[in-house]
Amino acid sequence: MNLTVADCLGSSSALKEGEQELSGDTAYRVLALSLGHVPTLSHIASGKVREIYEIDAERLLFVATDRISAYDVILTQTIPDKGRVLTGLSRFFFDLLDAPNHLITTDLSDVPGLDDDEREDLTGRAMVVRRVEVIPIECVVRGYLYGSSWREYRDGGGPTTEHLPSGLQLADELVEPIFTPSTKATTGHDENITEAQTRQQLGDDLYEDLKQSSIDIYQRAGRHAAERGVILADTKFEFGRTADDEVILIDEVLTPDSSRYWPRDSWEPGHDVPSYDKQYVRDWLDTTDWDKTPPPPDLPDEVVSGTRNRYIEAYEKITDSSFDDYLQR
Ligand SMILES: Nc1ncnc2c1ncn2[C@@H]1O[C@H](COP(=O)(O)OP(=O)(O)OP(=O)(O)O)[C@@H](O)[C@H]1O
Ligand SMILES: [Mg+2]
Repeated sequence: MNLTVADCLGSSSALKEGEQELSGDTAYRVLALSLGHVPTLSHIASGKVREIYEIDAERLLFVATDRISAYDVILTQTIPDKGRVLTGLSRFFFDLLDAPNHLITTDLSDVPGLDDDEREDLTGRAMVVRRVEVIPIECVVRGYLYGSSWREYRDGGGPTTEHLPSGLQLADELVEPIFTPSTKATTGHDENITEAQTRQQLGDDLYEDLKQSSIDIYQRAGRHAAERGVILADTKFEFGRTADDEVILIDEVLTPDSSRYWPRDSWEPGHDVPSYDKQYVRDWLDTTDWDKTPPPPDLPDEVVSGTRNRYIEAYEKITDSSFDDYLQR
């Protein structure tokens, strides 16, 4: 049986554009659930990785699938359990940080309309969250010079480098973390924007508020990771506004998809640093002649399992607990 991502998600899916085919030789249901398909609830939106369903006017079911994207294209293969790693790490940090956030519970027993099998299959990958108006800015914090910020810096400067001194090299630790927001593009790539542009969009009060909260959370999480031999080089947060006008942390937090985590031993300023994220997949894709438009090439089995291992290793190092235990809960 051949199954496309679009088949699993129904006709309202934004993913349909890609028409990416999955070699569906496993049971339809298992695959559909790893793709976040919950036919009994009303589907609100699809991101590249998540499926969002309405529970009621105040609550959403936020499902992390096993999809993986690279260069903004959703790859054909899924990474088994990746969605559970993302949900497990987000939940871990929501608990640890104790900052106002959207998580209500990961216990799905009160979610109406799910059958027992769905409830079991969604456990570990889904959260019940508060429904909010998303503030359309990606709140990026960087403690090290890398990625798009390094490219701007190397090429003469850009929005993320406006507060940086000269003379830095790739992967240098910054004297203090910097807040470098980007747009939340509905199509195409997110774009870094200047402090002035962000202040204009948010207003000064909200700008200060989001900057302060983002840097504070980055520093606390960074200390937690550092104690476990892991560098939190940078990360991205999203915030939303509740009906009673409270600004809260939303989305996934401090996962390998939203953050750049480095094993401390591999960090050397002036050099590329391998991270616990999809860099491993990107490196493999770079060995092919793929032009970064759909359809992407099929990932070999060893790249799928190597990627899965890195996500699980990140979970275990950062939470100090076994992923098998997480799956048993
Ligand atoms: N509590 C919430 N209420 C409403 N929307 C939320 C909430 N938390 C997160 N979101 C939104 O849900 C989506 C999560 O989906 P996902 O992570 O798959 O998207 P993405 O691939 O990162 O990017 P995009 O949003 O551009 O599709 C994001 O658009 C995020 O802004
Ligand atoms: Mg996202």
